[in-house]
Amino acid sequence: MIIAIDGPSASGKSTTAKGVASRLSITHLNTGAMYRAVTWAIREHGIDIRDKSKLDEFLNSVKISFDQFNNICISGKDVSKEISSTDISIMVSSVSAIPEIREKMVQIQRIISGKKDCVLEGRDIGTVVFPNAEYKFYLVADTLVRAKRRYLELKENGENCTLDAIIKNINDRDERDSTRKHSPLLQAEDAILIDTSKLTLDEQIEKIVNIVIQ
Ligand code: DC
Repeated sequence: MIIAIDGPSASGKSTTAKGVASRLSITHLNTGAMYRAVTWAIREHGIDIRDKSKLDEFLNSVKISFDQFNNICISGKDVSKEISSTDISIMVSSVSAIPEIREKMVQIQRIISGKKDCVLEGRDIGTVVFPNAEYKFYLVADTLVRAKRRYLELKENGENCTLDAIIKNINDRDERDSTRKHSPLLQAEDAILIDTSKLTLDEQIEKIVNIVIQ
């Protein structure tokens, strides 16, 4: 069984997907973390993404995995803290628009979830990665609500940021993610729309779990 949860930045996908996976005792795959981790590795190794042969070489050698706590690792190093920084949030949309990178990520996503029951969250899960997913959800929320959630997350991580900068990043990313040529952010025709603006986390999880187990 595949449960696809897509939606714009900070719409509550990660926490909801994690909660749903835990309630149903199935795997949770955060595909946004994969694009962020690749972005981090590209920056770390100073890869010029316009140089196609260097990019191919990098993509053939990069090792992305999840540890036993579901933290994302690059070559065995847990990079979950690094990838949530504002720097990475600014870079990730342009990196994730590159078709070669998407192809590789989608390939890994299908391998990881191919043989298990899995909740995947991202931008193109219900449209591209698993268009035949049994359950599809599309999460949205008001920009200010999303920005406030992200602000608290970053603060918790010890990062200095302003609400205005976060609103700008969210708007910029949504614009780039939904207008890119390859696999843009899009609600699948058969996805159930959930507005999380006025919902608590428990209510978001409950809504999805109830639909899946009914
Ligand atoms: O979910 P997130 O905000 O951590 O995702 C980071 C970026 O990764 C997002 O701006 C777009 C990209 N992304 C994508 O293109 N496709 C996915 N399936 C998941 C994320």
